[in-house]
Amino acid sequence: MDDLTKKFQGWKEKIDQALEEYLPREEPTLFEAMHYALFSGGKRFRPLLLFSVGHYFRALEEEMVPVACAVEFIHSYSLIHDDLPALDNDDFRRGKPSLHRAFGEAIALLAGDALLTLAFQVVAEASFSPSRLAIKVEIVRRLSQAAGVSGMIGGQIQDLQLTDEVRDEARFLAMVGKKTGQLITFSVMTGGLLGEASERERRALFNFGQNLGLAFQLRDDLADLNQDEQARQQAKNSPNYALVFGQAKTRQEVNSYVDKAVGALKEGGINSPELIYLSEKLRVEKEDVR
Ligand code: IPE
Ligand code: IPE
Ligand code: MG
Ligand code: MG
Repeated sequence: MDDLTKKFQGWKEKIDQALEEYLPREEPTLFEAMHYALFSGGKRFRPLLLFSVGHYFRALEEEMVPVACAVEFIHSYSLIHDDLPALDNDDFRRGKPSLHRAFGEAIALLAGDALLTLAFQVVAEASFSPSRLAIKVEIVRRLSQAAGVSGMIGGQIQDLQLTDEVRDEARFLAMVGKKTGQLITFSVMTGGLLGEASERERRALFNFGQNLGLAFQLRDDLADLNQDEQARQQAKNSPNYALVFGQAKTRQEVNSYVDKAVGALKEGGINSPELIYLSEKLRVEKEDVR
């Protein structure tokens, strides 16, 4: 294992441990359901982004951990609800039965609600020194914005309502920027906020996050089409960039957004092998992406 992989592994273990510790245990069924959703093979992409940026700017880990967990809680809730019959109606997630298939729809709804609420509780209860409380409030503001109507939820409703306009690329990308890009950009920007990055660096981080978010979702759309037949059918339940604009163009666009993301870092003078690694991993070279 090379040094970078080891570093990510170590961060992931820390994040996983904190996620588990934060889970409330007083309602066993909810605990089980939240645990199932959180520990079924998620990549922890957003927490690792936050850690990468935060460590680059020498942020305190004790401040990064609760925020990284909060964004993962919100991500996890968004997927639980996204899979429900009323939305994407997906029976599987990460190769296992989706939460509502394993626990029923009522529990899936409540587990999602609980994770969303827990995210804000964890940030509110995080120990920030008195001189840094304004930063904590700013994080709460940004997290609520990124998760809500002007962020992920806004993207999800546009995803639902994109019908005839699906071929309008600008609208499609605006939807992607919200449903997926906002939580990713939040993760990146929060690392910079905690580490007190300069104005120039924050601008670069913003551009980086936005481009990375687009690359991430377009790559996911491509991957959804290149899975087994069931997943391919499933991909047709919601707007899929690769289905609308073709796989060749999607591959080109993914790589072009990766180029732009990496270019933004360079432009801002941010020389982080971790961020470059996380970006380059999204690049698609081959016909099929998994
Ligand atoms: C899946 O996100 C949903 C999208 C926004 C494309 P991830 O690929 O980060 O999901 P996990 O948590 O690693 O499974
Ligand atoms: C991302 O979109 C879902 C959320 C932002 C909640 P998808 O619908 O493409 O995600 P998958 O493919 O179900 O993971
Ligand atoms: Mg979905
Ligand atoms: Mg998808």
